[in-house]
Amino acid sequence: MTNSPTILVFDSGLGGLTVLREVVAARPDAHYVYVADDAFFPYGHHSEDEIIARVVPLMGELIGTHDPDIVVIACNTASTLVLSHLRAAYSLPFVGTVPAIKPACAQSKSRRVSVLGTKGTVKREYTKALIRDFAQGCEVTLVGSPELASLAEAELSGRSISDEAILAELAPCFVGKASDATSRTDTVVLACTHYPLLLDRMKKLAPWTVDWIDPAPAIARRVSDLLGPRIGGTAQDRAAMIFTSNRVHGLSATLTPFFGGRAVA
Ligand code: DGL
Repeated sequence: MTNSPTILVFDSGLGGLTVLREVVAARPDAHYVYVADDAFFPYGHHSEDEIIARVVPLMGELIGTHDPDIVVIACNTASTLVLSHLRAAYSLPFVGTVPAIKPACAQSKSRRVSVLGTKGTVKREYTKALIRDFAQGCEVTLVGSPELASLAEAELSGRSISDEAILAELAPCFVGKASDATSRTDTVVLACTHYPLLLDRMKKLAPWTVDWIDPAPAIARRVSDLLGPRIGGTAQDRAAMIFTSNRVHGLSATLTPFFGGRAVA
């Protein structure tokens, strides 16, 4: 690739920004288009058929408009369902975000791992297959959170979110006796890209210390490998931030750090 590549990062809302910031750090030479399908948020509340019928044609329109070199589906709820449909329909490379069950189970010492995702993600056959193939003897607890993605959106938009609201979603991840460090949960997979937005608060609220697995750096490495060697320098253009609802977000100052400091149009 000789020109600056264009990377389109897609999520149902603002969660994909946690993947975007890693991709931007790995590929400052690229142009960025971030699409938040907020008109259909939250994906975790929609049926599988509804998500496929929404995302596959929408992606066709986005590819037609922005002509990306690569698309990152920065959403577990969508990736665990639509990646195969997107790859069959469009010829460019897609990188998805799926629950990091394999590395979590490989590193767990207590052999107790929890997967915190949307209700949709934890129900998926894709997620169950990852557990069958990669649990490596660990007990894996699936925790489907109804509200955490919306709470993360709200906090990023400057609203105040109570500790109680976060803890209610988080508590089922902690399995075993707090007093028995050898058998209680020691690893939690962040299987929704919104959740790293609340990570500092979740760490403070957790009943005991665990390792939180965020796959974003691994996704960024995969994107960079697919694009090939960097051309050097930093693309100077403004990044594009698109909301499918066309809402006026007024979030530019909040968003800029996720785009590596570049201006967001
Ligand atoms: N960010 C999305 C994910 O990774 C989900 C949020 C939603 O329910 O829309 O699963």
